[in-house]
Amino acid sequence: MMTGQLEDNKLVLATLGVSIIFGGLTALDNVNFEMERDSITTLIGPNGAGKTTFFNCLTGIYKPTSGTINYYPTPEKLTSLIGLAPDRITTIGLARTFQNIRLFNNLTVLENILIACHSRMKAGLLGALFRDSKTRAEEKAMADYSYSLLEQYGLAKSANHLAKNLPYGDQRRLEIVRALATRPVILLLDEPAAGLNNQETKDLDAFIRLIRDKEKLSVLLIEHDMSLVMSVSEKVYVMEYGRVIASGPPEEIQKDPKVIKAYLGEE
Ligand SMILES: Nc1ncnc2c1ncn2[C@@H]1O[C@H](COP(=O)(O)OP(=O)(O)OP(=O)(O)O)[C@@H](O)[C@H]1O
Ligand SMILES: [Mg+2]
Repeated sequence: MMTGQLEDNKLVLATLGVSIIFGGLTALDNVNFEMERDSITTLIGPNGAGKTTFFNCLTGIYKPTSGTINYYPTPEKLTSLIGLAPDRITTIGLARTFQNIRLFNNLTVLENILIACHSRMKAGLLGALFRDSKTRAEEKAMADYSYSLLEQYGLAKSANHLAKNLPYGDQRRLEIVRALATRPVILLLDEPAAGLNNQETKDLDAFIRLIRDKEKLSVLLIEHDMSLVMSVSEKVYVMEYGRVIASGPPEEIQKDPKVIKAYLGEE
């Protein structure tokens, strides 16, 4: 009965009844969520609504108390993400950034990308120790690929600078490009505009679209900047107290009385 659904499956990710309870707190309460392949989908909601917790469930950092998470790396294939370790989830196609930038500050920009590529290397530890010809070829390919990512996304001029010396906006960009190094099917961005000024936020809008189009991937965004949310998103989910209270195209979400109340209630 599932095969018919899978054949014309437009979804890349679908959760059903995902809940997580920390002590007495229900941080996610029965979250049903669907995301179309190659789309830009955004999660909004007041502080503490459960947005980052939802990312943590998708990426294996937390295991939901109940519910299912189905991931479709291709339209024909279904993989349950429940119980998989975070590095496994990265390898099969979900890459993320964090609300607070997590770069290797004392490594160069290029080295930050190379480290992420390593998770996909085939040669393994023995190959790395003995540096056989296969490993050397793989390392060369990885370095070329890393540099080409920096070139495509405007960071090549800083390739040899220490990450900590980049302007803040470029550090945010580098974190996103590093996530691309694992060749994700879904790119998850947790508040990428945090700390950016107006111009940098506008640039980020174009940057996210460019990545989606060039890499042919799906983007799941958590964001508080409403101008960015309304312009970049194709679908918006609104969370409050761990529940999804609304979902739909941005123009509808903007007018939804439940959404307006959730935000005004915060003031
Ligand atoms: N490991 C944990 N243990 C206990 N409580 C947690 C844990 N992780 C998250 N929470 C709680 O779950 C709730 C949701 O937090 P979460 O970080 O997901 O919110 P958020 O929507 O990302 O908020 P913000 O917009 O401020 O980033 C909060 O009340 C938080 O304190
Ligand atoms: Mg958060």
